[in-house]
Order: sequence, then C-alpha cells, then structure tokens
Amino acid sequence: MKIVLAYSGGLDTTAVVARYTDEGHEVVAAYGELGQPGELEQASARAMAAGAAALEVLDLREGFARDYLGPALKANATYEGRYPLVSALSRPCISAALVDVARRHGADAVAHGCTGKGNDQVRFEVSIRALAPDLDVLAPIRDWQLSRDDSMRLLESKGIAIDVTKRSPYSIDENVWGRACEAGVIEDPWAAPPEEAFGWTNPLAAAPTTPREVVVGFTGGLPTALDGEATDLLGALEALNSIGSEYGTGRLDVIENRLVGIKSREVYEAPGALALLEAHRSLEDLCMERDLLHEKARVEIRWAELVYNGQWFSPLREALDAFVESSQAGLDGEVRLRYEAGRVTTVGRRSPAALYDESLATYGDGDTFDQSDSTGFVKLFGLPVVHAASVREARR
Ligand code: ARG
Repeated sequence: MKIVLAYSGGLDTTAVVARYTDEGHEVVAAYGELGQPGELEQASARAMAAGAAALEVLDLREGFARDYLGPALKANATYEGRYPLVSALSRPCISAALVDVARRHGADAVAHGCTGKGNDQVRFEVSIRALAPDLDVLAPIRDWQLSRDDSMRLLESKGIAIDVTKRSPYSIDENVWGRACEAGVIEDPWAAPPEEAFGWTNPLAAAPTTPREVVVGFTGGLPTALDGEATDLLGALEALNSIGSEYGTGRLDVIENRLVGIKSREVYEAPGALALLEAHRSLEDLCMERDLLHEKARVEIRWAELVYNGQWFSPLREALDAFVESSQAGLDGEVRLRYEAGRVTTVGRRSPAALYDESLATYGDGDTFDQSDSTGFVKLFGLPVVHAASVREARR
C-alpha cells in the first residue's frame, strides 16, 4: 500500500514510518509547516532513516492564516470560553494538505499518529473522509497500541537515536496560533504547572517591568497594521507572539472537556492569538450594533464547538461563517493594547464605524440624549413585570 503519513518528526510518527516500511508499505511522510518552532532538518533526516520513500515538507502558513485563523479571529473563537482552538484549527488544514499529497502520489491511504483518547483522531478522520471518501484513513498508534518504549526499541534497532534525556515528558502541539502541552506531571489537576511545561512565554519574574503599548489596526475584522505599519494576520501574530512572550502573557491552565468524554488538564500558551482576540472583541464592542453583537456571541459558541469537535467541513460551520463574515463588513479601526508583566489589556479604541457616541453617552456637557423620553419607555418596558407582581399580590 502507498500511505501518506502526517509526520511530525517525533518518536511516535517516526516509529510508524519504520513499522509500515518493515511491513512492506511505501510511506510518504508529510510534514506540515504551520509556524511551529520544530527542528525540520532533524525531522526529515529521521523520516528517511526510518525508511520513508519520500518526504514532503508543506508550507501551510499562508493558507492556515487566511482560511482558518482569520475566520477564527472574526468568530472570537474560544472553546469553553478560554481555549483558542490551537490544535483544533490546524487539523482540518493539515487534513486538506494530506489529501492533496495523497492525490499527487496516487496513494491508497492517509495515516495519522493520534491516540484513541483525544480529539485529534476525530478531527483528522472526519476531515479526510469528508474531503476524500475513497481514501482509507489509518490510525496506527491507536490500532497497534504501541507504547513509547516499543517505539524507542524499534527506532534503536534501525540505528535512529532519540535522546531520551532531551525527550519531553509532555505531549506538545504547536503552531503560530499557540502551543498546547499535556501529560506528565500536569495530569494532576492540583499540581501547579512547572515552569518547564511552558515553551514560549517568560515567567512573570523575567517579564519587563515597564509597560508598553501596541496599536493594532483592523480592516474588515482582520489585523492590517501594527503601530501604523502595514502587516497581515501572520505578521501581526508573529510580532504579538514575540511581545506577548516577553511580557509573560497568554498562558492558560484549564480543565477541558474532550469530545470522547474525558476531562483533561491542558496548559496553553497563545500570546499572539489571545492579544488579537482581545483587540478584535474590543473593536466589535465599539462598532457592532447591540442585537447583532448579542446574536453573534451565541453563534461564536457553536462555531467553536463545531471546530473543536472536528466538524470543520460541515455545512453548519460554513453557514455560521457566512453569518460571521457578514458581521465583519466595515469593522475597521484601531485598538490600543497595553502590555504589563503577565497581562495584556485594551486601553483605547477608535473607529470611523464606531457606534459609541459621546454626545449620547456623556454625563457632562453636550448631552443630546432626551431623558424625558425614558419616562414612558421605562413604564412600558416594565409593564409585564409590574403587572405580574400586582396579580400575585392580589391573590395572596
Ligand atoms: N486539547 C487540545 C485540543 O483538543 C490540544 C490537543 C493537542 N495535543 C497535544 N499533544 N497537546 O485541541
């Protein structure tokens, strides 16, 4: 069989290359570049040493930002109110790329290295099957129940050295939207995450003590400038990842509900994504009509659930995205973010589309709001509550 494998360069997927090759399959290892720090050279060398017939290094960054991160930002997407869907957004993007590689190589199957306990198996399999119903989807790690020690022995037998001391006790997934870290000592939900669980951000003690501000410019709901300099989503993210990491912002420690029914403890770092989400939401608060803003908040919850649960390629996600997209028309303006050690907050916002009107809001001079209009409004607005109370009182 010719198999395209979602290859990360780590112990597990390298062992999969080795075992498939031993079993007589032809393996195309596909490595997706999503802005994660990884050691690409070393990863490619390992894939070849393990017996891969070919290695495809796919630069997915532009498409990831345009087709996945942009919609997520516009949808203010966080799962259970906090997790900005770091891994969840990458899986459908990688799946589409894997299908592409499979077509180019005329492969029979696509394989991923997920275990049977997580969300990622669902995201890969549902996405790949939606895009290519004729391809087999294989989950070797899940099927073989290969332990990490088994994998080590297999690679050692091929002369592939994996430095055990350098091997992280955590399971880590990274892309430009953030870093997810689980397993190891953080499986105890009472244990504070040790500093070594973090890979991007400074601890508070190392963060600068002088605050700094960054002005994020938006056009149509997407970042287009930082401090007046033109950029795009990817550029803004890279810059804010670096500033936010320096200031020790963007850390999350959560208990999360996986689709498979397990609660898990996760530690995330997403300094750039969380800063952009904060700025974007601040601009919407300034510019978006109340009922639309409130309705959108409900849509956002559903959007995040769909994406978390691996239903990126669903008609509902597409329809919700059309709603979100329509809400972003004319969402232009600037948001002032202030960085202080460990936090980033909005301290100012302005927009030609602002619905905030100082002459309506003011308690000072220049008030244009006619307070006498409120007399009748309050009476009618309260009518059902007041009426119900009087009937209840009369029947006592
Ligand atoms: N719990 C997160 C999610 O389901 C992250 C999973 C990523 N995997 C990892 N090895 N940390 O989206």
